[in-house]
Amino acid sequence: MYLLLPLIFLSLTVTSSSTQDLLWTLGVDTECGIVRSPEAIGLLEQEDNSRVVAGVVAARGSAPWMVRLYHIPLGRYFCGGSIVNSKWIITAAHCITVFKATKHNTRIYVADYDSELKESEERFYNIEKIVTHADFNDATYDADIAMIKLDTPISNFTHYVRPICLPTNNLTERIMKPRKHGRVSGWGDLRENGPRPRFMNEVYIPIVGQRNCISSTTDTVTDNMFCAGYKQKLKDACQGDSGGPFSILHDGRWYLFGIVSWGEGCGRPGKYGFYTRIPAFFDWINNLLIEEEIPCPPLETSDNVEGDCNRLKKPGQVCDFRCSEGHLRISGDVRRVCQLDGTWSGSELLCEFTECGIVTSQEALLE
Ligand code: ARG
Repeated sequence: MYLLLPLIFLSLTVTSSSTQDLLWTLGVDTECGIVRSPEAIGLLEQEDNSRVVAGVVAARGSAPWMVRLYHIPLGRYFCGGSIVNSKWIITAAHCITVFKATKHNTRIYVADYDSELKESEERFYNIEKIVTHADFNDATYDADIAMIKLDTPISNFTHYVRPICLPTNNLTERIMKPRKHGRVSGWGDLRENGPRPRFMNEVYIPIVGQRNCISSTTDTVTDNMFCAGYKQKLKDACQGDSGGPFSILHDGRWYLFGIVSWGEGCGRPGKYGFYTRIPAFFDWINNLLIEEEIPCPPLETSDNVEGDCNRLKKPGQVCDFRCSEGHLRISGDVRRVCQLDGTWSGSELLCEFTECGIVTSQEALLE
């Protein structure tokens, strides 16, 4: 961390680097969507030409935001979900209603990979509350989204436990298009009425244009849904994958664009898998996330800046960090760096703090 300050000054002069790059260079508060487990390193680059037919076993740590919902009385896992920050999980609303999940009968498992072993990083969290979207329609699966608040925050992120990034509207417009590939991961059935896998599986499938989605089915397709898959190839999500992420890799980070929601069978020709369209729910998600302020970490020396800045915060909230040679001030939407002489360096930078699970409205200023 003694490299921190020189890097700050370097980055601030490089105007072409994106804010995310800058944040990454700074080594602070940019943990979302990154895959760094030794088992998964190198696989990232291959995502688009993966040879999966109906899905393959994923690498351990390749989706560290993935959680599993466990039904205590039933004694089994019933759905997936994604970590958006240290307190909140996103899943499908139908997971909650179909399985009658409550904060008392459900646990959230993080860092699972092998269903048959208790892994060293694996642990579970109890639930403080579940918020199912008020517009969820159990006949059409419209607005199939729910957020689960953990009763204690995830204490620290590792290569096997970390949040996924939430995209901004701007990023959504740029990349969420037909034929763009996303990744679906989970422990759901390996084929229609088939067995469940031991290890987490993944599949890469393209987004399908909304008109083709609509004409592929007699079921209701709303603007809060999109579909993905191939007309003929088997690749699809299946029962048990619900609630899990449909994510897209962009600039080295994974962003959550969809939630596994419904399908007619699995992998049937001419059929697609349907996903909750996350960008339709940015405001709803944001309102829940900013409901409470996560306290600023205590003032620390530079050694601790890296770890502690990761859990920011509410837009506009300001936290100060004392570094051994200066001062770093970070807030939910503003970042300024104090130089050795006490003056602010550079101009104010508006940052996308997606890593704290907050969708800022500042994205236009970042480009
Ligand atoms: N509703 C299913 C579940 O509860 C997910 C179905 C996804 N199906 C599909 N063919 N993509 O697990």
